[in-house]
Amino acid sequence: MRRHVKPTPSSTARTLSKATALRPKLALVLGSGFGPALERVAVVKEIPYAKLPGFPATAVQGHAGKLVLGTLGGTPVAVLSGRAHYYEGHSMAEVTFAVRVLAEFGIRDLLLTNAAGGINHRFRPGDFMRLTDHINFMGTNPLRGPCPAGLPRFLDLTQVYDPALGGLLDRAAKAARVRWHRGVYLALSGPTYETPAEIRAFAKLGADAVGMSTVPEAIVARHLGLRVAAVSCISNQAAGLSPHPLSHEEVLTTAKQASRHTGELLEEFARLYGKT
Ligand code: HPA
Repeated sequence: MRRHVKPTPSSTARTLSKATALRPKLALVLGSGFGPALERVAVVKEIPYAKLPGFPATAVQGHAGKLVLGTLGGTPVAVLSGRAHYYEGHSMAEVTFAVRVLAEFGIRDLLLTNAAGGINHRFRPGDFMRLTDHINFMGTNPLRGPCPAGLPRFLDLTQVYDPALGGLLDRAAKAARVRWHRGVYLALSGPTYETPAEIRAFAKLGADAVGMSTVPEAIVARHLGLRVAAVSCISNQAAGLSPHPLSHEEVLTTAKQASRHTGELLEEFARLYGKT
């Protein structure tokens, strides 16, 4: 009888290496609304998450769930279209499994994208924010538990988001002519949106935008020595800042409207990255 072998990041990375000769250094994780950027990728190989052992099934509307290898702006890239969220009930190990696979596959730099609620009063739906730092209010940490040999038990997070990659994003934003901000992303477990009182509190704590993803992947990527950059599409004003209630439809609609800019932004970033 064949014993069931638990997939590891390195075994799944081997599956990936066998599937393609492409060896990108840059990976992109496409969050809500960033999916249309895929249309700009010259696809070499597409693998549904279901075919990648250990990848959790993703369920949320607007998240396709496939890994795409190809070139973007002439630069080889691995693109994760759709991500597993903590609010879906996945463990932090599952939420960050794909990032561990990418690191084993040879990825050096990771661009994380998401949709977020704007807390900063200057932010409008359709704007973009590059993350300069984050506040982890998810109530847990993806590095909790045994620490792999050779990796730091207590990881320094003084600079999660790489300034050099951030500089490339700034240049890409200028070229794509998007409304652009820099700021602090506050991550919550979800799946509820926030109360207006919570948003007022988070504003006082220094948060500019709020969301339910990105931070676990960023922490794990830093642990594995990857450089990280991240960008939010501001899909709505956070709770209490706009006269109407929040909905996932609003998030998706705004993100969709911003998608032309999204594609340009990411393509230009990948192009500039390829020149470094
Ligand atoms: N809150 C939390 N997560 C989000 C929001 C929000 O307002 N918008 C998009 N993701």
